Amino acid sequence: MSAKIKQELINPPRGTTDLLPNDFLYWDYFLSVINKYAGIYGFGKIETPIMEDTDLFVRSIGETTDIVEKEMFSFATRGGDKLTLRPEGTASVARAYITNGMSKWSQPVKLFYVWPMFRYERPQAGRRRQFNQAGFEILGGGDPIFDAQIIQLCWTVFEKLKLKNIAIQINSIGDAKCRSKYRSALVDYYRPRASKLCANCRVRLAKNPLRLMDCKEEKCVLIRSSAPQTIDYLCQECHDHFKSVLEYLDEINLPYMLNPYLVRGLDYYTKTVFEFISEGDEYRQSSLGGGGRYDTLIEMLGGEPTPAVGVALGIERIVEKIKEANISLGKKVSAKVFLVQLCDLAKKKSFKLFNDLIEAGVPAMESFGRGSIKSQLRVANRLKIKNVLIIGQKEALDNTVIIRDMESGTQEVADRAKIINIIRKKK
Ligand code: HAM
Repeated sequence: MSAKIKQELINPPRGTTDLLPNDFLYWDYFLSVINKYAGIYGFGKIETPIMEDTDLFVRSIGETTDIVEKEMFSFATRGGDKLTLRPEGTASVARAYITNGMSKWSQPVKLFYVWPMFRYERPQAGRRRQFNQAGFEILGGGDPIFDAQIIQLCWTVFEKLKLKNIAIQINSIGDAKCRSKYRSALVDYYRPRASKLCANCRVRLAKNPLRLMDCKEEKCVLIRSSAPQTIDYLCQECHDHFKSVLEYLDEINLPYMLNPYLVRGLDYYTKTVFEFISEGDEYRQSSLGGGGRYDTLIEMLGGEPTPAVGVALGIERIVEKIKEANISLGKKVSAKVFLVQLCDLAKKKSFKLFNDLIEAGVPAMESFGRGSIKSQLRVANRLKIKNVLIIGQKEALDNTVIIRDMESGTQEVADRAKIINIIRKKK
């Protein structure tokens, strides 16, 4: 086997990574908060297949978006079906809403997911080909209070995670009617400046002018700074809706910033769009989450007209922030006793004692792979476990156990049969 092949075998695919027990200290912290508040806000969990018909994503996200044009992991099955690993969750949730007749359920339907997503992007810090999102969708609710509630929920999650310096950016891109007026205004503004745009933006101008707002190239950002703003093209209804969302946010003192150029990279949005940005991040992947309203998506996929709003939080990016912020992750489940054994017979007795302790609900830990008392006590010390139960040859034979207090260094001998009661009484 050549060195190159070996290397490929031991590395995960580009842009993907293994999550190890140490990572789960942070992941579990995030998941405990998100699960708790999803429940409090009345969201029920949903799971859909990890792949869907390619067309579902093309139609939902939009043919001329970066995700559909460049980033989908698509393949044909042996039977000739064209499938795609989901690059985002909203399209799948909208599809499931129709499939499962959720329009007959009590409205709005509030759904929550924690899912892996797949996008063929150029991997860099904060940008992966397989990543995870925690998403919330409220389907069947057109009231602006739901836009505000989704934002409030995310804000609560960030607060409970003790993450600081997060900014809410918000905008409204209107509905199909006002957007077509805005699109014409954009084209009128950009056409005479086309030669000064980057090559990508020249294509965007022809195919999907709204996407001109997404470009990060300096010369395009400069041109954008005087471009027409969506907010000036809203019809009365979209204007009132947006005003209402902001009033709800004011009511609970949420510190949002209006960003007139925020349009988001997916075509299904209508009216409100928003992002949670980590302030002070110099690198570009500072968006910890984003979402918005998608009032026409379900109808476009063949369902009944169903207004909806949602958000997805990028878990890897948030976990990175939790790590950087050095947040205390709370009390870990720690054991009450640590078992030490000194010979083969003692090992058997220790194995049985461990079983009895767990059955009795006394959390115990061990280091059965180690033989010497010194190395086992070192582990107990590292784990900061106060009570150590030592079984040597003598104790194994006369059914006793030595209880060692690691703080004071004192030891006592107790009957094996009484040990669980004694330990229960100890601190
Ligand atoms: P999105 O803005 O494409 O929205 O993704 C949401 C979040 O996922 C981003 O803010 C970011 O934190 C994270 N994310 C996106 N791409 C990557 C990547 N390649 N690597 C790591 N993290 C990433 C959506 O996906 C919409 N479905 C959100 C939504 C739900 N809108 C309505 N409902």
